[in-house]
Amino acid sequence: MIDIKITEKSFWQNDVEGYIFLVKEGIIPLASKSDFEILEKEYYPNLKAILKKHKFTGKKGESFVLTSTKDEKLIQFVFVGVGKLDTTWNYELENLRRAIGSVVLKLKKLEIKDSVISLPEDDKSFGLVPDRVLRQLVTIAIMADYEFVKFKSDKKDKQWSGTLLIHTEKEFNAALKEGIILGKAVNLTRGFADLPANHLTPKSLAQDAKAIADKHGLSYKVFGRKRAEELGMGGFCAVDAGSEEEGQFVILEYKTKTKNAPTIALVGKGVTFDSGGISLKPAAGMEGMKFDMSGAAAVIGSMEAIAQLEPDVNVIALTPLVENMPSGKACKQDDIITFLNGKTAEIKNTDAEGRLILADALCYAEKFYNPEVIIDVATLTGACLYALGHFFTAVMTKNDDIGAKLQAVGLVTGDRVWPLPLDDDFRDAIKSDVADIANTGASNYKAGTITAGWFLKNFVDKSKYAHLDIAGTADGVPGISYLGKGATGAGVRLLTEFVLNYNKKK
Ligand code: BES
Ligand code: ZN
Ligand code: ZN
Repeated sequence: MIDIKITEKSFWQNDVEGYIFLVKEGIIPLASKSDFEILEKEYYPNLKAILKKHKFTGKKGESFVLTSTKDEKLIQFVFVGVGKLDTTWNYELENLRRAIGSVVLKLKKLEIKDSVISLPEDDKSFGLVPDRVLRQLVTIAIMADYEFVKFKSDKKDKQWSGTLLIHTEKEFNAALKEGIILGKAVNLTRGFADLPANHLTPKSLAQDAKAIADKHGLSYKVFGRKRAEELGMGGFCAVDAGSEEEGQFVILEYKTKTKNAPTIALVGKGVTFDSGGISLKPAAGMEGMKFDMSGAAAVIGSMEAIAQLEPDVNVIALTPLVENMPSGKACKQDDIITFLNGKTAEIKNTDAEGRLILADALCYAEKFYNPEVIIDVATLTGACLYALGHFFTAVMTKNDDIGAKLQAVGLVTGDRVWPLPLDDDFRDAIKSDVADIANTGASNYKAGTITAGWFLKNFVDKSKYAHLDIAGTADGVPGISYLGKGATGAGVRLLTEFVLNYNKKK
């Protein structure tokens, strides 16, 4: 566990084990030049030559540690490169995030109990005011500390704990607190997503969501199979039918004190395991399908942050939680189902289950909450991995304003999104001969991510709507220091920040 605090003592006055230096390309200190000069004067007169000898020049991705003694104690100097600061602000900011990620990994590896870092003073860079930069750094440091060790006997009781002091002004305490809330919410989401299906079921996740609601003053509603059937949620029921684990439909509600505020609905796909159902996946394709509830986890995590950050907008979270399994009771290919809004769909493939539960959730959101905006987040299509890979969540919307806002928030938070066209030309791909629509796109249309988006679009009438496909970003993202292995919490930073900005006064 990492504990992050602000220190107002000057850099060298902090009696710690680790002194961290953010360094620009060409070995130029990013924060306080004079502290770096003291390092050269007091400890390493030929510091720059030493760093160069070890191939550390301050390029992005580089890090290096030097050891010395201070007052008879071993101390560590951790150098980390942030690259050049003459590119676009969002690249600079991402490099800074990754540098902080590397720092935390080093602190963990070397078991450095306490350390100090100065906040960058380069206020022309990074595109954000300093307290927003601080907030980013804090969130990232907490994210970098996350590891899924619950089931690793040798690791679970021996986790590093350390304090990171950030040398800056006390007035940034609010930003520090916000950064911590966000980081913890991301890790909460990852903790859910990493759990395998024998440890996380629709019922257990619903209970965890209730605990979060109780703790942070959100309202909580839940119903299962029977009520879903009564309501006519044929999509939810079709996917739920095959499993021994009963599905749960969870609703969390945050109410702002601001009068006449609009409502945003966040909808998350919560398939606790996706076997494919009767259209069973081959073994290799089933690997990682415990992550198929990452959208729901992201929405629940976002609500934990939102409850504490208190935006000026009402927020409803809707998470259909089910297990997609084959059995004698499972829905079958060729079945025709009817959703909450009366539309019908032909099941061409039971593995295209996410859109079925989301369709009912979207209808439910519009029918009972009349939201101004609906955003869904889902590990929806394997095709998304081919379209965009692991570094960008796909966003599909017909509302350019919401699309632009999501993209902008993605750059600020690092939870990045890239648009795919929800163009009318794709609409006919999901035509059916026997029902209103089919649950898979016709193969000659390709673009499985977009045709899935079009399926969902059929279930939103009035609200401004955006669909986020996190199939690539939710887990297994390679090479990013602060994401590590397994679940990433994709969508939490994005959705929380979007909601915070939405109806902001001033
Ligand atoms: N959960 C999967 C999508 C997925 C695949 C996410 C790989 C992450 C990694 C989804 O339910 C699914 O199986 N989609 C099918 C749809 C197809 C049958 C139209 C797919 O992508 O193959
Ligand atoms: Zn599936
Ligand atoms: Zn799925």
